[in-house]
Amino acid sequence: MKKFNGKLLTLEGPEGSGKSTQLALLYKYFKKKGRKIISFREPGSTETGERIRHILLNDKNLKINFLSEMLLYQASRAQFVSQKLVPALKKGYLVLLDRFTDATIAYQGYGGGLDLKLIEKISKVVTQEIDPDLTILLDIEPRKGLTRIMKTNKKDRMEGKPLIFHNRTRKGYLLLARKKKRIKIIDANRSISETQAQIRKVVLNAIKRRII
Ligand SMILES: Nc1ncnc2c1ncn2[C@@H]1O[C@H](COP(=O)(O)OP(=O)(O)OP(=O)(O)O)[C@@H](O)[C@H]1O
Ligand SMILES: [Mg+2]
Repeated sequence: MKKFNGKLLTLEGPEGSGKSTQLALLYKYFKKKGRKIISFREPGSTETGERIRHILLNDKNLKINFLSEMLLYQASRAQFVSQKLVPALKKGYLVLLDRFTDATIAYQGYGGGLDLKLIEKISKVVTQEIDPDLTILLDIEPRKGLTRIMKTNKKDRMEGKPLIFHNRTRKGYLLLARKKKRIKIIDANRSISETQAQIRKVVLNAIKRRII
């Protein structure tokens, strides 16, 4: 793994687990503390990546098989890593990132049944071997997360996949968390503020231990 002055904190979890909500709160918290911070989302965060995001998420009826889906996510990521992530880490930013490689393993690997080794191999090239320093996994039953989303907006293409797919994805995330020490599981069933408090505990502990 490469060494930079900056640090990478990723948020992961099933649809509607609260990643974007919690990331925004965490961003505000760090900003207030005066930390040099920047946030991004995947897929997207570059002009190319946002166009790929549109293909992946906006058209619910578009037929994309799991292999091309995985490659599209990785294409967006390759652009993001070289154009945004590496420069930010070199400049010493704490980078908050809404989804990264774990999502590809969970969704296209465990969810879609693609070979995990293949995904890992491609991820290694695409990320230039950058691994997050800390990952917050917001765990929730997919049924509950999807219900939250449906309250405010229509489901996107990924969210429109069957519940059984989302359940496999969640299981995949939990299996990953067992394998990787950097992944910390947070119960995302509680209120927004209670969940944020749990995340802060983990984050403060990681700061104390100079992980981020
Ligand atoms: N703890 C919570 N309790 C109830 N509702 C919540 C909670 N956290 C987030 N929400 C609401 O659920 C919806 C989804 O939240 P959010 O967009 O943060 O999730 P997400 O994980 O980013 O979803 P996606 O996977 O679609 O990007 C939003 O309407 C948000 O306000
Ligand atoms: Mg989100």
